[in-house]
Amino acid sequence: MKHWRISLANDPGAKVEFDCAQGMTIHAAARDAGYRVRASCKSGGCGICAATLRSGSVDYVSPVSKAKLEGCPPATVFLCQATPTQDCCFSTDWQWSVIDKTPLSRRMATAGKENKEE
Ligand code: FES
Repeated sequence: MKHWRISLANDPGAKVEFDCAQGMTIHAAARDAGYRVRASCKSGGCGICAATLRSGSVDYVSPVSKAKLEGCPPATVFLCQATPTQDCCFSTDWQWSVIDKTPLSRRMATAGKENKEE
């Protein structure tokens, strides 16, 4: 299975890179790599996950809202339904976050210790 390299950058200069398997959405690949990207409907209907494609190319795994896409600047891609067909670089006007993969029980135990130290 092919994998493509995805780069996300936003205006303040932050940048992350991760791999995306052929046929997988960029949203899902980002999540698997530990990044939470902006999304709401996750079905191509709202446009909140929009990013600007700076290089590369994508296909959509299922149709996205033409009405929403037509209202966006050229090269806009809805990441929740987009899958790469080559390495891609995107810019965003929103910031992703890093998913904390620490088990909840460990986080709660750590939080308890922090509270006792206060
Ligand atoms: S999350 Fe709604 S279009 Fe992507």
